[in-house]
Amino acid sequence: MAYKNSGYGLSSAPVSVLAHLLALAITSLLLAWLLHFRGGLSFDSINKQKIFNLHPLFMVIGFILMGGEAIMVYKTMAVKKEAQKATHWVLHLVALISGIIGIYAVFKFHNELHIPNVYTLHSWMGLVTISLFGLQWILGFFSFVFPGSNGSSRTGFLPWHALLGAIIFLMAVCTAEMGIAEKFIFTGLKRAQEALVLNFTGLLIFLFAVCVGLAVILPSSF
Ligand code: HEM
Ligand code: HEM
Repeated sequence: MAYKNSGYGLSSAPVSVLAHLLALAITSLLLAWLLHFRGGLSFDSINKQKIFNLHPLFMVIGFILMGGEAIMVYKTMAVKKEAQKATHWVLHLVALISGIIGIYAVFKFHNELHIPNVYTLHSWMGLVTISLFGLQWILGFFSFVFPGSNGSSRTGFLPWHALLGAIIFLMAVCTAEMGIAEKFIFTGLKRAQEALVLNFTGLLIFLFAVCVGLAVILPSSF
């Protein structure tokens, strides 16, 4: 999308570097929260919270951070277009699989504790987001990778692919912010170290999303 907006006097390089640093900080804060304050991670445990903990882990690191990095590939990797494209779709596939595992984990947690499913706005937005993400991936794959897709339909679809991709990424970030606020309240947090860790995770996810958005809009430096 950058080619239409090259008048800002800024390239995408500084914002994408900042995005990588934010991704590292978010990963550290999230791991500190889940391992230090929330008791750890497990697919099978009598401590059901450990099963829940897989949900934010896969949704934030696997789905959002990986998805954001995949979007920025065209601005961060100074390699041939084909290599950028391959990295873009593979990272998005990893994000999609992580998202599916993360959602499976929270359903498992709900079912084992007999908590009703899909009763919050967060869960509705979450299911719409992962479904659109899956659809976007399939459409992207068949339009740009699958042999036989023709050049002019690819060119026509490209701006729509970029726009819808950015919207779906935004939906994922909104869903995660809602999930963080929900968990904060369910856990009964007030002013505490854990509250700061969780709130800062949410703030940095927002900043990461801003950087990804800017990286898409600004022209690359190569
Ligand atoms: C893009 C990221 C995310 C998506 C797509 C997503 C999706 C979902 C879905 C579909 C459910 C419903 C499961 C069910 O009904 O059995 C759910 C539940 C839940 N999620 Fe997330 N989630 C995301 C991120 C997060 C994060 C970062 C947190 C917080 C740490 C979180 C906290 C929760 C909580 C507390 C529930 C149980 C209550 C409820 O159903 O709303 N989620 N999530
Ligand atoms: C859910 C998955 C996907 C999302 C969210 C997504 C999102 C995006 C976004 C936001 C852009 C704009 C990047 C920029 O202009 O800097 C983009 C570009 C692009 N994507 Fe995807 N994408 C996804 C899957 C795929 C797949 C599977 C392919 C298959 C190869 C693909 C191929 C491309 C191509 C060729 C571009 C154009 C790069 C250019 O010439 O500027 N995408 N995508």
